[in-house]
Amino acid sequence: MSDQPLGIGIIGVGGIADSHLAALRTSTDARLIAVCDVVVERAQRVAEREGCAAYGSVAELLAAPGVDAVICCTPNLTHEELGHQVLAAGKHLLMEKPLAMSPAGARSVAEDAADRGLTLMVGHSHRFSAQSLAIREVIDSGAIGTPRFVRVAMNGGWIWPGWQHWVLNPELSGGHSFHNGVHLTDLAAWWLGEQADSVFASGQHATSEALQIFDYLVIGLGFPSGASAICEISRGDNPRGAAYAEITVVGTSGVVSRDWDAEGVLAWLDHGLAQWGPDGIAPATFDRELDSFVAAAQGRAAVEPPVAFAVHAVDVAAASEESLATGETVRIGAAA
Ligand SMILES: NC(=O)c1ccc[n+]([C@@H]2O[C@H](COP(=O)([O-])OP(=O)(O)OC[C@H]3O[C@@H](n4cnc5c(N)ncnc54)[C@H](O)[C@@H]3O)[C@@H](O)[C@H]2O)c1
Repeated sequence: MSDQPLGIGIIGVGGIADSHLAALRTSTDARLIAVCDVVVERAQRVAEREGCAAYGSVAELLAAPGVDAVICCTPNLTHEELGHQVLAAGKHLLMEKPLAMSPAGARSVAEDAADRGLTLMVGHSHRFSAQSLAIREVIDSGAIGTPRFVRVAMNGGWIWPGWQHWVLNPELSGGHSFHNGVHLTDLAAWWLGEQADSVFASGQHATSEALQIFDYLVIGLGFPSGASAICEISRGDNPRGAAYAEITVVGTSGVVSRDWDAEGVLAWLDHGLAQWGPDGIAPATFDRELDSFVAAAQGRAAVEPPVAFAVHAVDVAAASEESLATGETVRIGAAA
């Protein structure tokens, strides 16, 4: 346990790093020490703005005085190698999702962190959005009984910023199941409280046949208890808003849902309709994620999501990509 602010270094200061930087600006428990990027001018620009050190290499950042923990915001392909490098330097790690691009890679990073007694958290940021937390609160209250079916659709068009982006290259991103699919499948596993044992996926190249990833993707999950989930993500829609999402969780004695039109989280219960919690994916999502990471690194709270669920998200993504390639249902290991 420590009451000193956790010193943070950020690797990779592209798009998502901005959300982490914003969270760091207001945190009292963590302090930005340094950033690095292979494009060193990018790191320097950010460092000038944020008042921290800038480096052009990961090794320099890891050697910088005061860096206790690292937030890794680099493309998916780099996660496994950089994860090991950060842990070998004795730093706690908040790795952006997905943990790695293969089940074996995810397990090797998870085991490395456990062996070294370091905190490893994966940025499944949707767990920290107001809507996701409100749905979880409804489930935890017992108001809908045992959750049996999840449908989560996120069709807001936030899948990639441009045609040259690495996200569109499956060799760099792992494919859409790894890149954005993990957000949805992790929510389903979290709300249902168990890990999937079967995966069936289908996809379309909705925007262009030239795409190498499926921009429209549906992942169906089966769970050992008999519960199931449908996760749908699309760039093919004309989005009605960046936060466009439809979520329904059906339980044995009630239903909770969140519609895209920002009515908030609604629960249909025995005694009628109830509105639950605030709405939307606010900047506070990353504030909550950072708080959670710092609390875990300082020994004040458990890691969220548990590492086993972050590894499971990779198992599901790999199974989903296999299902897309073969057209078959893919079975995955039993719950950890
Ligand atoms: N949690 C979320 O909601 C969310 C949203 C978007 C992206 N992400 C994840 O964040 C990560 C980054 O995505 P992005 O959209 O910010 O990408 P990006 O391309 O905008 O930024 C990546 C940055 O990393 C730098 N970089 C690449 N390799 C590096 C290396 N070896 N060492 C140092 N710097 C390196 C690049 O120069 C670039 O500045 C990905 O893993 C992605 O899946 C998460």
